[in-house]
Amino acid sequence: MFLNGSSDIVHLRQSPDFRLSVNTLLRNGILPTNGDLQAQTEALASQVGPIALTFSTLIGKKVLEQLCQERHKFGVKSELFDGLKKGTTVVEFSSPNIAKKFHAGHLRSTIIGNFIANLKESLGNNVIRVNYLGDWGMQFGLLGAGFQLFGCQEKLKKNPLQHLFDVYVQVNKEAENNEVIGQAAREFFRRLEQQEHQALLLWKQFREITVEEYQQVYKRLGVHFDIYSGESFHQQQAQEVVQQLQRRGLLKTTEKGTGVVDLSSAGDMSSYSTVLRSDGTSLYITRDLAAALDRKERYNFDEMIYVTDKSQGIHFQQLFQILLAMGHSWAERCQHVPFGLVQGMKTRLGEVVFLEDVLDEARARMLRNMSQSKTTKEMVYPEDTAEKVGISALIVQDFKGPLGSDYKFDWDRILQAQGDTGVFLQYTHARLCSLIHRYGDGEEGAFDPSLLLDQRSISILQHLLRYDEVLYQSVQDLQPKHLVNFLMTLRLRLFSGVCTVLANGMKILGITPVEKM
Ligand code: ARG
Repeated sequence: MFLNGSSDIVHLRQSPDFRLSVNTLLRNGILPTNGDLQAQTEALASQVGPIALTFSTLIGKKVLEQLCQERHKFGVKSELFDGLKKGTTVVEFSSPNIAKKFHAGHLRSTIIGNFIANLKESLGNNVIRVNYLGDWGMQFGLLGAGFQLFGCQEKLKKNPLQHLFDVYVQVNKEAENNEVIGQAAREFFRRLEQQEHQALLLWKQFREITVEEYQQVYKRLGVHFDIYSGESFHQQQAQEVVQQLQRRGLLKTTEKGTGVVDLSSAGDMSSYSTVLRSDGTSLYITRDLAAALDRKERYNFDEMIYVTDKSQGIHFQQLFQILLAMGHSWAERCQHVPFGLVQGMKTRLGEVVFLEDVLDEARARMLRNMSQSKTTKEMVYPEDTAEKVGISALIVQDFKGPLGSDYKFDWDRILQAQGDTGVFLQYTHARLCSLIHRYGDGEEGAFDPSLLLDQRSISILQHLLRYDEVLYQSVQDLQPKHLVNFLMTLRLRLFSGVCTVLANGMKILGITPVEKM
């Protein structure tokens, strides 16, 4: 047993590859926290019996002990997280628009938001998952008017999303060269804004039926929301926000009659945000201001995270800036997590219109790959497995790089069984499960850590010990790539331990681990 400690790396003589930071060792109780390194080394040696008592034995023992005692808490209870405030986190994500397409951007928002919510939750925060639906605006005038012309209650009940989308597409087309439709749409929206019973009833039906439908599909993805809010909820409050802005002297009226907030530092309107149309109606940002104030009051959150594509970056920057100008210092703890664009996400039927299309396509392709693979086992529910594996392929592809980057979508590449794909991750997990199933997981006494002195085992042990550091890194910058990389590097030796960490980490990413595939 010999240690020579440089500033923060410990090298073990017997295995030159073996390096761990002193902090990792201290944190895990492998090195005692007091005394100099030499004394610590001796203390270590005396803690264990006379033979085979190397450092790695201790590490092995420690890691496996932790894994046996607190399987699902491994890593997340690390004292690394002691300094992080555990409070209430609102994560707003997915947020599709009723009767419109669920595009790749909404899919990205859904899986990234879910990752952030899972991560925050696993580290002990109280997480509130909010879906902020696009459920208000002139398009509901068009949709309402359109439904009166082309709508069919029967079709609406049978296939709600498709029918609403069809009606919306059709009425948009008609409106292009038929002024009467435009008038009907404006009239319908006016009735909505005035809370007229019949109009509101139809709108409510569209909304409810859409939410029910979405809930089913989100379930396939393993995603849920605590709250389905939306722009409609903040109609009235948006007018109050405008009054508050006025009272604070922040609202200016332009020549065109619109209401704006000056955001320039020089006060010369070189940058501003429009919060009121000339006809007195609110805008997207006005409703977002109202929604943020309402959430603060309702949930008294410690932080709020919005997940959308990067094209909305300026919108959120202005949103936070206005909130601060209104004197709400908590806006400092609001954050926009932007992501890049995905090009070319198509199914065999063509363009992706609904979330369901993507999931069906992933499942169908995966099922075909599985039926062609020689190693795939006979399965009771192959569709279910194919779906979970297909979805993990989507997630891993999306999480590998920095979230801000754009990428080109390619089914064949993401569904590969080899390389750093979700399929491979699942394959590793399923293999380990079947080994454990066959040989047991070696818990309870049977395990002898001195058997883990080979290079590979040591490197896995080291790797496992870093799980908390990787989570820590991810929670600092909210990027899933650290966790993806970490899971990819894990190798297949310490069956039970590896399997547990893998499953825990995958669940945080939003992937449901399968045991056979
Ligand atoms: N519904 C919007 C869209 O599809 C996204 C909403 C983002 N959230 C927000 N609070 N503005 O683009």
